Amino acid sequence: MTTHIRPQPGIMDIELYQGGASHVAGRTDAVKLSSNENPFGPSDKAKDAFAKCAHSMHRYPSTDHARLRQAIGEVHGLDPDRIICGVGSDEIIHFLCQAYVGARDEVVFTEHGFLMYRISTKAAGGTPIEVPERERTTDVDAILAACTKKTKLVFLANPNNPTGTMIGLAELERLATGLPKGALLVIDSAYAEYVEGYDGGAELATRLPNVFMTRTFSKIYGLGGLRVGWGYGDREVIDVLNRIRGPFNLSTAQLDTAEAAVRDQDWVNKCRDDNTRLRAWLAEALAEKGVPSDTSTANFILARFASEDEAAACDEYLKSEGIIVRRVAGYNLPNCLRITVGDEPSCRRVAHLIGVFKAGGAIA
Ligand SMILES: Cc1ncc(COP(=O)(O)O)c(C=O)c1O
Repeated sequence: MTTHIRPQPGIMDIELYQGGASHVAGRTDAVKLSSNENPFGPSDKAKDAFAKCAHSMHRYPSTDHARLRQAIGEVHGLDPDRIICGVGSDEIIHFLCQAYVGARDEVVFTEHGFLMYRISTKAAGGTPIEVPERERTTDVDAILAACTKKTKLVFLANPNNPTGTMIGLAELERLATGLPKGALLVIDSAYAEYVEGYDGGAELATRLPNVFMTRTFSKIYGLGGLRVGWGYGDREVIDVLNRIRGPFNLSTAQLDTAEAAVRDQDWVNKCRDDNTRLRAWLAEALAEKGVPSDTSTANFILARFASEDEAAACDEYLKSEGIIVRRVAGYNLPNCLRITVGDEPSCRRVAHLIGVFKAGGAIA
């Protein structure tokens, strides 16, 4: 017996998202540098809050997320009524597509943009429009040239994953003000906390109704496994998204842990400082070994190899030594490996092994 029910158009064109690998066969000591996670994990205050939730699991969670939104609002100086929380920022991206994109609508993003933009666009029946970048950096003019009357959303990760590059606020504003009427610029600020002094586009989203910002607890807050993200924008947009949000989309554990995490900005500052120091060290160490990268503003480095074959061979060699990095061929970067900035021993180890590989001493 086979089923006769058929999915909506576009759904069977979706390629399944491949997460960063987390295991190497036969090894229990593998170091995972493939998913841009915080190597130091969450703050102790967040862990304590999570543990306390064990006593209230029989209770339904809050439906309006008021306490978490209040905490985010206080820390970032934003109006809590203009915030929506979701199961990772992935869910916010999904809500945006579900709410605003239908058949014949277009969603624009850059050539090396985050894979979820394409997936959520197709899930909503829309058409993804991929725009070239300039030397792995967002090209505002190319995005503006790609926009039409059919454009509903423009997704831009800034800093971008997997390139690690970013554009400045003046360029973001030029993009927002140049968009066709009826299109929304979504600034995906998953890595904003890694950039000292950058507000992730919050001020722009406060001032311009066609700008929306997404944020996550998965990166610097070290809570990728918990799944919490949020979005901030015009009240009308928030109202639209709340209508399609499940009332209990976040559990009490997610809400309380994220609240404790956002209130502990000392932990965020410590993690940013460590990342800045170790990222600079890693980039320089790799460059010395003949593996260049663009200046990264996030918690990973996009290491460029001479060819696709060399990147694949280096990936295999690292795996054989218990280090997992990320192939990014699916992002149109076949000659690159994305390497998350880990703790100091991991950075030293990955740099050492890449040095051995480049010197021809590796037998993968
Ligand atoms: C650019 C970008 N946006 C969004 C996300 C999704 O994050 P979340 O874990 O909040 O769903 C990621 C995760 O890798 C990302 O790199």
